[in-house]
Amino acid sequence: MDSMLTRRGFATRLSLGAAAFRISTEMAYAQRATVKAGEIPKDMVWLNANENPAGPPAVSLDAMRDVLPSSGRYHYNEFGQIESLIAGSEKLTADQIVTGAGSSEVLHTAVDIFTSPTRPLISVTPAYELPIELARALGRPVVLTKLRGDYTADVKLLAEAADKAHGGLIYLCNPNNPTSAAVKSSDVDWLVANLPANTTLLMDEAYIHFVEAPDVKSAIPYVRQGKEVIVARTFSKIYGMAGLRVGFAAAKPSIIEKLSELKANVISIVGARAVVAALKDRENIVRERKAGLAKTRRELCAWLRERNVKYIEPHANFLMIDTGRNAKEFINTMPSLGVAPGRPFPPLDNMLRVTIGTDPEMAKFRDAFWKVYKS
Ligand SMILES: Cc1ncc(COP(=O)(O)O)c(C=O)c1O
Repeated sequence: MDSMLTRRGFATRLSLGAAAFRISTEMAYAQRATVKAGEIPKDMVWLNANENPAGPPAVSLDAMRDVLPSSGRYHYNEFGQIESLIAGSEKLTADQIVTGAGSSEVLHTAVDIFTSPTRPLISVTPAYELPIELARALGRPVVLTKLRGDYTADVKLLAEAADKAHGGLIYLCNPNNPTSAAVKSSDVDWLVANLPANTTLLMDEAYIHFVEAPDVKSAIPYVRQGKEVIVARTFSKIYGMAGLRVGFAAAKPSIIEKLSELKANVISIVGARAVVAALKDRENIVRERKAGLAKTRRELCAWLRERNVKYIEPHANFLMIDTGRNAKEFINTMPSLGVAPGRPFPPLDNMLRVTIGTDPEMAKFRDAFWKVYKS
């Protein structure tokens, strides 16, 4: 009964906060809107949403084909095992995770539960907009701190803001979207050790698998230690399953219990089976995809350096390029050249975010970028 009431309350809050969904959707598709429907070239290269052009691994495609004929069933009885497998892949137990429709769902529930009219969401600017816009739509205060000169989060400012507010939810995306910069694990160590009272740390690790730097690490060990930390993970990025909508939050069981109360549903059995198949060959899949991405990313960085074009040192599957002028010129012009780059990210108005695509896609990106850069 309690949980039904909570769910009903959540639905009401969501409809009150419907603006957040509209905003998020609008932002995700704003880029496409710069080219009118019908005018979108068939061979448009989409480098605007940090998707993985490789798509799901072959083993996942097979697993999905196998389950399709029986997808008329809910398959509820399988989910205990599926969740244990996902948890086990991070050396966690099933009571330390909750799955969601992408990591978006668990980010939503974490923001809803761990912020309040007196407990702010605290983050950096710019950061991934979804949690920030959701907090605003729910009427929760939002405090945004400045990035350091190297575009990484200043963990001391985050802790100070939480202390000043007598607690809150610190949202730290690592590596950060849209900057692709990453916070070193020594800084995250400091933040976890110095979390003010009444404060929870939400680490969004959507892009953690793309990190090569040895001093940047996942925060999942803090979950194992029972700290006040939630880690959001997704199968949308390195696993190439954005359209399948599978993600999870990892946290100590008392936090997971709270997040689970607002869980909307089980995930689709098609996505679940795709994930199970991929996790069975996880090490090879992640290693190969990371190596391929890192090579293409390095080549783009080298190309930019040769032309004295500045960029933020990337740790994710996208890159922030300093265009030296308002990036809107690139954002508005490049789609007509067959390449869709990322949307604007104020206050970094001169920066253009580009997702790392395939090698031929990046060749097309370089041509289009250079045409606009030289104009
Ligand atoms: C930082 C970050 N977190 C979370 C998400 C949400 O992804 P999904 O809901 O597909 O897991 C995205 C999507 O681009 C993202 O950039």
